[in-house]
Amino acid sequence: MAWITKNSATMEIERRDEPYLTDAMKAKLTADVLPRFPRKQAATLPALHEVQHAYDYIPHQALEEIAAFLELEPSVVMDTATFYEEFFLRPRGKYLIWVCQSLSCEIMGQPTLLEQISAKLDIEPGETTDDGKFTLMTAECLGSCGTAPVALVNEDLHENLTYDNFERVLDSLK
Ligand code: FES
Repeated sequence: MAWITKNSATMEIERRDEPYLTDAMKAKLTADVLPRFPRKQAATLPALHEVQHAYDYIPHQALEEIAAFLELEPSVVMDTATFYEEFFLRPRGKYLIWVCQSLSCEIMGQPTLLEQISAKLDIEPGETTDDGKFTLMTAECLGSCGTAPVALVNEDLHENLTYDNFERVLDSLK
């Protein structure tokens, strides 16, 4: 895996007037989450989930808003958000493809399959197509080793994949 450098110090954060972390979200976190923990920091993951669920990704402005709400440094919230692959800090495609890269799937042809999908969509893992339709990701074991290789497209698991049958799935979504 390559290290991707980030120009955090000089990065321009896109902002809008309306907050991403709304009053309703804050009220929900205050009522349902904060009372369960001794420290506000424990609500970081629920707050990130709340924002991603609403917008499909977590804008940097929202990271700052979560930090302010939980009385944390923005870098602490950023650390948490970047640790988990499930959080997206940039808009993602309408269809999120997770290709399993763990052992059973690898043995059953995942590396070639991933290369073929990548070539068809003209993106590398971690990227989104220009039309915003597909984001390609790799995942660890998706829990369906007996039907390897497998991939998730949003919530749908596709099993016993060959390039031909997965290409048909992709074409049906175009
Ligand atoms: S290794 Fe791919 S589903 Fe388990």
